[in-house]
Amino acid sequence: MRRSVLVGCGSYLPDRLVTNFDLEKILDTSNDWIVERSGIHQRYFAAEGQLTSDLATHAAERALHAAGLRGGDVDLVVLATATPDQTFPATATKVQARLGMTRGAAFDIQAVCSGFIYALAVANNFIRTGQADVAVVIGAETFSRILDWQDRTTAVLFGDGAGAVVLKGVKGHGDISDRGVLSTHLHSDGRHGHLLYVDGGPSSSKQVGHLRMSGREVFRHAVVNLAEVVTETLTANGLTAADIDWVVPHQANRRILDGTAKKLGIDPAKMVVTVDQHANTSAASVPLALTAAVRDGRIKTGDLVLLEAMGGGFTWGAGLVRM
Ligand code: ACO
Repeated sequence: MRRSVLVGCGSYLPDRLVTNFDLEKILDTSNDWIVERSGIHQRYFAAEGQLTSDLATHAAERALHAAGLRGGDVDLVVLATATPDQTFPATATKVQARLGMTRGAAFDIQAVCSGFIYALAVANNFIRTGQADVAVVIGAETFSRILDWQDRTTAVLFGDGAGAVVLKGVKGHGDISDRGVLSTHLHSDGRHGHLLYVDGGPSSSKQVGHLRMSGREVFRHAVVNLAEVVTETLTANGLTAADIDWVVPHQANRRILDGTAKKLGIDPAKMVVTVDQHANTSAASVPLALTAAVRDGRIKTGDLVLLEAMGGGFTWGAGLVRM
């Protein structure tokens, strides 16, 4: 049984820190409202001219450094983003060039906030089937570019950033003790596209467009869908919530994290939370949170880590990884 072992992770946040108090100056909002409704205290925005590929490249370089590998060792780049540099080429190919990688394949995945879980699933399948040996899986976003500053209900919730992991094909025993990605579970339901979308794009409009979200509806679906996919993941692996060492969820809203943990009986102390510091960075949020918890020593080699996310589409999914 070939497994994709997570041999390194890394992340990057742009320099520009924007607090809720900064937003109070440009929007009819308050720090108290944002903290109470979302748990967010601050976010980072990319500088003018700083692109998703720039954030992604920094995160990928840091992940490769942590893995003790170089760009030339990589034969697959899968980059999840809903805010690519351009309509084409894929942002992943720009990252590929900057990593000094000239072989293999690089492409983007679009599943909005679930993008990293989708990218992890795709890269894991490439490795398990022997089509790749070393993959860099990236989530990178510049959501600040698609926010509508006339819409206080969405503008306060998002930030920019990137995170990456390096996966390496290694022979395992085929049981739960193996290091690596143990399973992934993906879902989508296109009937709900109108609840979370961007009102632009090359085929439908002359504009890039802005993010539109029916927050309350998304919230309601998120707690149900995330609880279901986490239960599916535990069942598929013959586990209960008590067996999981850490949950690294998509960081959209503190209340969604608390609601999901409560519904599943997960100890809140096992949830990695960064939404207060980074806000919602869409596809970047899971690898940003994972890297934070690895870097500060909470997540250690051998730990069972459950990753989960839900985003526009709707798309949602989960992955179980033994570090
Ligand atoms: N500041 C002050 N007041 C505000 C703000 C703001 N920034 N935004 C809204 N309000 C007001 C509203 O106008 C409303 O006022 P009213 O009662 O007088 O009409 C009141 O606050 C309540 O607004 P709601 O939208 O009902 O607030 P809610 O408690 O639902 O919180 C939120 C909104 C934070 C968006 C929440 O619904 C949420 O987090 N939803 C889920 C988002 C999510 O999970 N997204 C994940 C996927 S993201 C992706 O895929 C890109």
